[in-house]
Amino acid sequence: MVKNFKFFLPSKIFFGKDIINEALPEVKNIGRNALVVTGKRFARETGLLEKVCQILKHNAINFHVFEGVTPEPSTTDCENVARAGKQYMADVIIAIGGGSAMDVAKAGAVLMTNSGTLQDYFGEEKFQNQPIPVVAIPTTCGSGSEVTRYAVIIDEKEKTKKTVSSERIIPKIAILDPLIIKTLPKMLIAGTGMDALCHAVEGFLSIKASHITKIFSIESIRLILENIEKALSSDENLEMVFLGSLYAGFVINHSGTIFVHGMAYGLTIKYRIHHGTANALCLPYAIDFLKTHGYQEEIKELEKFFNSQQLIRLNKSLKLPSSLKDIGLNRSDIPELSEMALKGCERSFRNMKSRFNQNDFEEIFTKML
Ligand SMILES: [Fe+2]
Repeated sequence: MVKNFKFFLPSKIFFGKDIINEALPEVKNIGRNALVVTGKRFARETGLLEKVCQILKHNAINFHVFEGVTPEPSTTDCENVARAGKQYMADVIIAIGGGSAMDVAKAGAVLMTNSGTLQDYFGEEKFQNQPIPVVAIPTTCGSGSEVTRYAVIIDEKEKTKKTVSSERIIPKIAILDPLIIKTLPKMLIAGTGMDALCHAVEGFLSIKASHITKIFSIESIRLILENIEKALSSDENLEMVFLGSLYAGFVINHSGTIFVHGMAYGLTIKYRIHHGTANALCLPYAIDFLKTHGYQEEIKELEKFFNSQQLIRLNKSLKLPSSLKDIGLNRSDIPELSEMALKGCERSFRNMKSRFNQNDFEEIFTKML
């Protein structure tokens, strides 16, 4: 029997080498005055920013560039983007970057048409007015943000990551050009690729998973596991991981993530561990915990593709940390990490069969030592 499901995918998706030349001119169908939002280095240093500007000029699309997005963005980044957008009277935002730039663009688009602060809009469908449209050009192979309804932003006041969630912030156009990511540093290929694997796996285990999201989860898991090690040195394999991350985006757009992401937030906020790397570190231990806490059947299905020991070996082979010791933490850090995990998991518990408590997190983190 097929459980009822809804699947909504409003993004026009372009995937392929050099496809940016064909895809970017479509911006003129949704806006005339673009704000190009990106981080401080990658787009400029790789020549991508210049290429985007040339295509926009060639197609008579006015634009201004905002290069101020920080790697783990906070509400301030989003306010800065909204301010720049209003100043230039932008009617479309083009985000170039990883999850950070795309999420800041999505949240900035909300603030451009809705008064107040971003704190007012954390949660599900909390804003009134339609945000200006966003075009997403991912430069990493992990976040899936180019096709999702989420903007994940650090709330500085509460010291945790929070999410603006709405179907109205899903990018209108997603441009995935594998030539763009071929200069990505190896650490980021590993970290963001494993983030995508976590999306596929957590989405599979979510109580919101459907027949269709499970198809994308399994294909994403296959693409990433078969290709990620070789992707560090081969563009062909990297392209497959990129595709896997897109599919994982389709998954979490509907299913959300579960407690792996919530656990990892503390590692990122307090210890500045890269988002995907922190998730990759938590995933095998989370899988082991779930196996004895109500998810036996689901984990058995996933074990057709991998088990926790293989994930630990994979992290090692990708030169990612595989224990808390590897990132310089010890037993005394566990109580605070567990407290942060509990806070970070507030949303993800809604996608799970049951909630876990602080003792559960202490047990998992102790195994991670
Ligand atoms: Fe993620």
